[in-house]
Amino acid sequence: MNEEMKSVDPRLVPVVRLATGDKIPVIGMGTFGSDNYSAVEIAEAVRTAVKMGYRHIDCAAVYGNEKEIGDVLGDMFEQGIIKREELWITSKVWNDKHHDVRGACLESLKKLGLDYLDLYLVHWPFPNHHPPMVDVASRDPNARPYIHEEYMAVWKEMEKLMDEGLVRNIGTSNMTRPKMELLLLDCRIRPACNEMELHPHFQQPELKKYIEDQGIAVIGFSPIGSPNRPERDKTPDDTVPIEDPVIVDIARKHGVHPAVICIKWGAQNGQIPIPFSVKPEKLLSNLQAVVQDPLSAEEMEAIRKQDKNCRFIKGQVFLWPGARSWEDLWDMDGVICQ
Ligand SMILES: NC(=O)c1ccc[n+]([C@@H]2O[C@H](COP(=O)([O-])OP(=O)(O)OC[C@H]3O[C@@H](n4cnc5c(N)ncnc54)[C@H](OP(=O)(O)O)[C@@H]3O)[C@@H](O)[C@H]2O)c1
Repeated sequence: MNEEMKSVDPRLVPVVRLATGDKIPVIGMGTFGSDNYSAVEIAEAVRTAVKMGYRHIDCAAVYGNEKEIGDVLGDMFEQGIIKREELWITSKVWNDKHHDVRGACLESLKKLGLDYLDLYLVHWPFPNHHPPMVDVASRDPNARPYIHEEYMAVWKEMEKLMDEGLVRNIGTSNMTRPKMELLLLDCRIRPACNEMELHPHFQQPELKKYIEDQGIAVIGFSPIGSPNRPERDKTPDDTVPIEDPVIVDIARKHGVHPAVICIKWGAQNGQIPIPFSVKPEKLLSNLQAVVQDPLSAEEMEAIRKQDKNCRFIKGQVFLWPGARSWEDLWDMDGVICQ
């Protein structure tokens, strides 16, 4: 982008205060390219985003681009474009590193070129994993259902990372209520944040309220409904939030793309959306979404009514032998599925 790039004053972006006292910007930039963009393209988009006013970047080891993002961050620190302490950087321990959380964290820090993370998440509550870009029917033969003792061993390592100062906050992702209840019973340090799928067609009101009631901030992933997610993650019943007539109509009235309405709804609904794009104009409109032209109470209510309870990131590849279907990952009956 050239010097004419439009930007948003980061001081105008609201923040959410966490139980630790830290403040996380209410919008972050997602960095999972859904196999559509190269690591360098995504890293260059991080440069654009930070220059534009983004201060929160949602990374993960499994996205395969932390080294490239680290190179860009290092460049910007060196050039005085931004200071480390002005940024909120999240990373996540991938499922294949549950036995070595500290090693995984050090690896992410090294690649990102940082000496601490603002937030470190357990990406999934299972150690089950798969090679990149595998078919949705692929299964890890060693996959197991949720085992609380194993998860707590991971969590204890997460707590130690905080003790050591390598991470400022720890959190969870893709949790269900019964799993979270057990964690909250047994943890020494409570999660500051929980990252979960949230968009107008998957609002998860009960789980979100439960998490919030526990004093845990909610980060909403796939806030636009991940329209360009890999084909392997789509099923015939999936809906498309940006094609929802109610959202399209509200978008027309505000003169923006429906994606922007999804982000406004997310931020006004109390979650922290982390939309992805590498395209400057989309990055900009997503950032502007949280600082101008809010949705009215009526519009918020109209979108609330569009919930389709339609989960897009189902996690099929993490199923264990003997599991019935992807629903087993999500404890649909309120008890942990074994
Ligand atoms: N914790 C987890 O397990 C987990 C799971 C999934 C995702 N995440 C995180 O959440 C982030 C976001 O989720 P996501 O990438 O799945 O989906 P998303 O943010 O809901 O959707 C991204 C797609 O929306 C399009 N888009 C973005 N802004 C737009 C705009 N203003 N107008 C029109 N289209 C727009 C982009 O299109 P273009 O490609 O054309 O730019 C992009 O492909 C990820 O990058 C990742 O950081 C976390």
